[in-house]
Amino acid sequence: MSSSRPEAVSVEKATAAVEVRDVTHRYGTGAAAVTALGPVSLSVAAGAFLVLVGASGCGKTTLLRLIAGFERPTEGTVLAGGAEPEPGRGAGLVFQQPRLLPWKTVGGNVALGLRYAGLGREEQARRVPELLTRVGLSDVAHRRTWQISGGQQQRVAIARALAVDNPLLLLDEPFAALDALTRERLQEDLRRVSTGAGRTCVFVTHSVDEAVFLGSRVVVLTSRPGRVALDLDIDLPRTGIEPDELRGSPEYAALRATVGHAVREAAST
Ligand SMILES: Nc1ncnc2c1ncn2[C@@H]1O[C@H](COP(=O)(O)OP(=O)(O)O)[C@@H](O)[C@H]1O
Ligand SMILES: [Mg+2]
Repeated sequence: MSSSRPEAVSVEKATAAVEVRDVTHRYGTGAAAVTALGPVSLSVAAGAFLVLVGASGCGKTTLLRLIAGFERPTEGTVLAGGAEPEPGRGAGLVFQQPRLLPWKTVGGNVALGLRYAGLGREEQARRVPELLTRVGLSDVAHRRTWQISGGQQQRVAIARALAVDNPLLLLDEPFAALDALTRERLQEDLRRVSTGAGRTCVFVTHSVDEAVFLGSRVVVLTSRPGRVALDLDIDLPRTGIEPDELRGSPEYAALRATVGHAVREAAST
């Protein structure tokens, strides 16, 4: 296919999945007001995996909630897919604690995501096994969510978020409560399932390792009010490399050092 695109520049602009323009966010009013974030400007290209890193309380969750449409910015503009974000529309969400329905099975929880997306029963039945295979949960499809481990529960939450064909996936420290080994495995899963899926991801963490491993771009925020301290493209291969090989590579080590340094600097400002 070779279609000429005379207005290539504007097409490029229009494909930004998330636009954050001169955004400041305050909680409360008057003397009690807390400026949590900003001013921040960020443009996230479609298909990017953006990781936001920063110390606790620097405004990461606030920024994610603004992008999800749960909050409106005090100042500035947030656009997702070119429009003002509306909660529950257009973005899949994964939180620190998986929010699953305990009376439903693993498969039932994923099916619910599909039902919310408007899919009929037959389509749900077809897609659930597919999604469970993708996150490695086929063998526990019929268990209740309290009969599986914390790591598996978090995978159910990820499968449910992937179930809906949202162009945007927002994840707020989804692996923070997990043990180191489970966390690494889920990072590998997420890196794999998000690569080439045509989805834009915004992932919040305070782990430098996690940021460099997952991100195609890492943004470090200063301490409150969060502003951009570092904005770095992560040019590591996303396919054709074993996770261990990647984690052991000098390029990975160098990027980790750069981001780690920025995080320490940002926390002290
Ligand atoms: N609903 C709220 N009301 C008042 N202050 C809040 C509220 N939510 C967050 N904050 C404050 O805003 C700052 C940023 O919070 P948050 O975005 O949760 O940071 P992070 O996710 O980076 O830890 C913190 O100082 C926090 O106490
Ligand atoms: Mg937070």
